[in-house]
Amino acid sequence: MILVTGGAGFIGANFVLDWIASTGEPVLNLDALTYAGNLESLKSVAGDARHVFVKGDIGDRALLDRLLAEHRPRAVIHFAAESHVDRSIHGPGAFIKTNIEGTYTLLEAVRAHWSSLAGDAKAAFRFHHVSTDEVYGSLGPGDPAFTETHTYEPNSPYSASKAASDHLVRAWHHTYGLPVLTTNCSNNYGPYHFPEKLIPLMIVNALAGKPLPVYGDGMQVRDWLYVKDHAAAIRAVLAQGRPGETYNVGGWNERPNIEIVRSICALLDEMRPDAAGSYTRLITHVTDRPGHDRRYAIDARKIERELGWRPAETFETGIRKTVRWYLDNADWVQHVQSGSYRDWVATNYSARTAA
Ligand code: NAD
Ligand code: DAU
Repeated sequence: MILVTGGAGFIGANFVLDWIASTGEPVLNLDALTYAGNLESLKSVAGDARHVFVKGDIGDRALLDRLLAEHRPRAVIHFAAESHVDRSIHGPGAFIKTNIEGTYTLLEAVRAHWSSLAGDAKAAFRFHHVSTDEVYGSLGPGDPAFTETHTYEPNSPYSASKAASDHLVRAWHHTYGLPVLTTNCSNNYGPYHFPEKLIPLMIVNALAGKPLPVYGDGMQVRDWLYVKDHAAAIRAVLAQGRPGETYNVGGWNERPNIEIVRSICALLDEMRPDAAGSYTRLITHVTDRPGHDRRYAIDARKIERELGWRPAETFETGIRKTVRWYLDNADWVQHVQSGSYRDWVATNYSARTAA
């Protein structure tokens, strides 16, 4: 079996569902169920013997030791993290705790487990660290896309904490020989995405007739990848990636935010027309994010050249599926908008004035 951390979050849950459907191999899913963890996303594998869920923290060394000894996974895929840049600006402490200290504790537990293995089991073991393109910093309009050798220039508490975790993973390979793989991926979107992030927030707000808050001029560029393509990339790297290597994963879909928001409005105008007029009427430019990175772009040629992975979805096909999913899963959407979600919306948006 494999051990997945953070498998009740957005990408982790999509990965777990995709993994069980495509490989049938059991998954031990360790997740602390923070505000971002949601077992409802895993409803389709509830009661399936191939999915074993454990509620727990990656910072709990005794729990990690017990799980590793009991289940003896052949690989660990590490998704668990605090992942939202805006939350890292309001409260960086949790990011230091989980992304840096938690990754350190997990690495130490995994190193002890790996050291106890012998022969083929030891040679085949892998620790896969799921990271982000944000560690590379911000690009100018004409700069080439990030390659794996780009310097680390993180700008937010979130990206700095992820950069630190990448460095720990790298060091555990170089110093102790732990067979690690790291992927640095661009912005994901798709089903089960918590509506604090741009795409699900815009869909949910539009359907509720609320303003669509675009930070600053909306010309910040991100490279969007459909989440199931990310799951496939991780499977490819886990199967054939070279230990110690990093692989950039991206969608070849660079778009300014305002264009993303307009695409969502156009799809909603088509699929759920509103008598009050086009959803674009709700677009509202608001105060920018402090330290906002202007542009990310991923050069994903290495993973294609070495492992044959390329995204299956274009932005047009992926965003259509995503909007459809949100329209068809109103219960999931309603349940995640709990009291703590409403508190976050007030914290992040009430002080932003129309810009
Ligand atoms: P998410 O916030 O949706 O989910 C994170 C999950 O980790 C949640 O289920 C949460 O309960 C769990 N978790 C948090 N702290 C934990 C702890 N201390 N112990 C155990 N579990 C804990 O995040 P996501 O968007 O699914 O991102 C997953 C990973 O992928 C993160 O490492 C993130 O940095 C990385 N990543 C995300 C994106 C993206 O666009 N979302 C892009 C590239 C990389
Ligand atoms: O690049 C990969 C990263 O993508 C991941 O590592 C992070 O975990 C993930 O959260 C994401 O980070 P971003 O900051 O790019 O995602 P977010 O959805 O928060 O914002 C996307 C863009 O949209 C960004 O330029 C900020 C802008 N934005 C966001 C929100 C929530 C708005 O204009 N308005 C909003 O209300």
